[in-house]
Amino acid sequence: MTHPSPPAQVPPVPPTGCPAHSTTPREHPALDEAAAEPAFVRLFGPEFSADPQSTYRLLRSMGPIAPVEISEGVYGRITTTYAAALDLLRDNPNRFAKNPSHWRALAAGEVPADSPALMMMMERDNALWKDGPEHTRLRTAITDSLARIDQHALRALVKRTADRLIDAVQEHGEADLMAQYAAPLPMAVLFDLFGCPPPIGERIVASLVQLFDASQDAAAANVELERACGELTALKRATPGADVTTWLIEHPAELTDAEMVQQILLVIGAGTEPSTNLIGNALTLMLADDRFAGSVVDGAQSVGGALDHVLWTDPPMANYSPLYPIQDTVYEGIWLAAGVPVLISFAAANTDPALGLGEGHRAGNVAHLAFSAGAHGCPAPGTARVIAEIAVERVLDRLPGLTLAGPAEELVRRPGTFASGWTALPVVFPPASTTAASSATFAISPVAPSVASSGVSWTRSNPPDAPTVSTPPATTSTVKPPPSVPRGPRRVWNFLGTWWRGR
Ligand code: HEM
Repeated sequence: MTHPSPPAQVPPVPPTGCPAHSTTPREHPALDEAAAEPAFVRLFGPEFSADPQSTYRLLRSMGPIAPVEISEGVYGRITTTYAAALDLLRDNPNRFAKNPSHWRALAAGEVPADSPALMMMMERDNALWKDGPEHTRLRTAITDSLARIDQHALRALVKRTADRLIDAVQEHGEADLMAQYAAPLPMAVLFDLFGCPPPIGERIVASLVQLFDASQDAAAANVELERACGELTALKRATPGADVTTWLIEHPAELTDAEMVQQILLVIGAGTEPSTNLIGNALTLMLADDRFAGSVVDGAQSVGGALDHVLWTDPPMANYSPLYPIQDTVYEGIWLAAGVPVLISFAAANTDPALGLGEGHRAGNVAHLAFSAGAHGCPAPGTARVIAEIAVERVLDRLPGLTLAGPAEELVRRPGTFASGWTALPVVFPPASTTAASSATFAISPVAPSVASSGVSWTRSNPPDAPTVSTPPATTSTVKPPPSVPRGPRRVWNFLGTWWRGR
């Protein structure tokens, strides 16, 4: 069967019988009534983020892989079922490549330079974007180094970090748990694990601040970010320690300085944003959902159960892992053009009705795809779990009487395509004076904002993930933070800076 050669962005007209051409429900707001087929369903914006599952249902009705607008003017496909997600992930690097050098629209100059999708999908010299032996070499260096982390020391580190952050808000009786807890905690833990001294960490934080602030020079901030990671590498080459940076350097893969910088930024980026969202999503569930709210008081349902529930029903990375058909190919009768990205929807896969999973089947079940699968599957699900579990337990233990500051329905989701998390999580609790927990000896860790607030995710240099033309701010009203809660990016940074310096 021959197909016309399509423009790079738009997949060719699928063969007759393609599910993408079948009954397209017209009532969904994401669809343009008058649009000629194929209809690309928007995977961003207020309607999508207000109710992503409604979009996943629509997409599923179009077949196991459906056409989407990934962000403004960027087109591709997405898997809509568990089986399709797994099939494609396992087919990398054979029929589907991870390396964006295969992205035809990018090569054709059709992807807007300021697209948030570009920032999340462009090629970088780290393991995430490589295929075959190149990927194996970089990934092995990362997995072997992460495997050397002492799990007992990690637990103690997460607890200390959590306590210090809780100490900073405990007396106020109110906080935004995204900006003041879920965001800085994983970054601080990772900096510690990398043996990053405060002066270097502080520069990384400052660069991230600049990257977040659209008025600043992002290119200069990027240079400074890479320079700081280069200095960390140089420091650890000269003075090795028991830390991930040193283990990466010592690895038989013999990473160059440039490779070191990129892998450090990958692990810090990959490790922070999803962890932040897992903490935020699980805390919200435990504070707002009756099935879990009871457990805060009587322990009926464990924090682990809440984490499992989130990983299945609201995974922190909702849609990602772009794959490129290396050649024109057909999947279950659906035409996939070479070089047109196919995203994996972890959120749609995990909630696929074909799995027949009820509530009772999720606890303790790790068959979800929240950590992806195949060659690029997350190398650190255990570390992620420890960070999130202790973070949630600690805040519930240390702030008795913790409640949301407003109705859960008024919380606002982040508007983007890829991550699933809250923009803010305002809470109130009976104020308490700083307790013994705060007096624990604690070497001040460099603390940077999570990628959830900085937009620096998975990458060496993502520019802001703040609402853009293509990801307008959600129109729904948000819970009003209490007056003293830091609001907006600048105040988050101020808070972090103060916390950093131990004030
Ligand atoms: C709740 C927390 C986490 C979630 C949901 C998560 C999820 C994922 C997913 C979905 C991928 C695949 C991305 C893709 O194929 O494009 C991935 C890859 C990766 N993750 Fe995680 N992750 C988490 C925490 C962490 C942590 C804590 C670390 C490091 C300490 C980490 C390091 C990585 C790395 C290095 C990769 C790239 C692997 C490769 O390309 O071979 N992640 N993660």
